[in-house]
Amino acid sequence: MFKSKITGLGYYVPENVVTNDDLSKLMDTSDAWIQERTGVKERRHIKKGDGNSTCIMAVKAARIALERAELTPDDIDMIVFATLSPDMFFPGGGVEVQEIMGMRTIPALDVRNQCSGFVYAISVADQFIKTGMHKNILVIGSENHSGGLDFTSRGRGVSVIFGDGAGAAVLSRNETGKGGILSTHLHSEGKHKKKLSLLGPSTGYWVPQIIKENPQVDIPYYPYMDGQFVFKHAIVRFSEVIQEGLEANDLSVDDIDMLIPHQANLRISQFIQKKFNLPDEKIYNNIQKFGNTTAASIPIALTEAWESGKIKEGDLVVLAAFGSGFTWGSVIIRW
Ligand code: COA
Repeated sequence: MFKSKITGLGYYVPENVVTNDDLSKLMDTSDAWIQERTGVKERRHIKKGDGNSTCIMAVKAARIALERAELTPDDIDMIVFATLSPDMFFPGGGVEVQEIMGMRTIPALDVRNQCSGFVYAISVADQFIKTGMHKNILVIGSENHSGGLDFTSRGRGVSVIFGDGAGAAVLSRNETGKGGILSTHLHSEGKHKKKLSLLGPSTGYWVPQIIKENPQVDIPYYPYMDGQFVFKHAIVRFSEVIQEGLEANDLSVDDIDMLIPHQANLRISQFIQKKFNLPDEKIYNNIQKFGNTTAASIPIALTEAWESGKIKEGDLVVLAAFGSGFTWGSVIIRW
């Protein structure tokens, strides 16, 4: 059995900064409300004509990760691409990345686990490396939320939270014997699937049906979120799955050097920090400037934390996510 290791990280966000005051011009909200309830100060949105899409941002992040791993696209054996906002309904984004980056006819797998997408994707890639089937896997999380949100007052409970961006990691067979991914832990509970969901367009809510129904009343083509319900479940599941990962490796909360939680909401991160009694330097948050970028949030935060020297060789790094599905998971890494 082999072990895997993160050998390169990169992220990309669009240049266009959208502040809370900008959103206040579109809907009945305020900078004070958004900051107090979510921690978000600003986020990035793709701007018409800037050339970005979910897959283009993914490629921009991936190129940085590859360069840092000192690999070329030819070295990559597989793509695992997590997104809830692909450029096309089908095929998924993985094949677009394969095409744009001029890669060999390698497998391209799309992962649809929303805010837990990157953790799921890392876990999938880790299994392929462990068995010896592949040596270098490109794992990406990328989202274009701004293209599909309701920016009227009707959508304010959802739209103020989310932002666009992409993050990528190269997972490689660990030839050094030092560090690497210790374990991954994944869960789901489908009975809450509608509490954070986008019903259509889909085969259940197909375009003619949406047009037939009154779109002002029934709006299945914008995301729906029961914020308080999501919040209550998130804080429980985040805590459980971090503990589960630590216990599986005979570790405790005191061993954590850096916790990178999915950037769902600053209040959720603060709750976990308090529960585990973690000092500020052992948890990384950047939701203040990027919002919740779903599958991209962990790789963006991980890249930033690594770039700023907050993660060093030998550190115990914990990734944890919770999101729509509900799905949740953790990754325990010795850096
Ligand atoms: N600006 C101003 N007011 C807003 C608002 C906005 N952007 N969004 C909602 N409100 C209003 C509501 O309409 C409601 O008004 P009412 O009391 O007159 O009915 C009031 O604020 C309180 O709404 P509520 O939904 O109860 O607020 P909250 O304190 O639960 O905060 C969230 C809402 C979404 C910020 C919060 O529930 C949350 O963060 N949940 C978790 C979401 C999350 O993490 N999602 C991602 C999971 S991966």
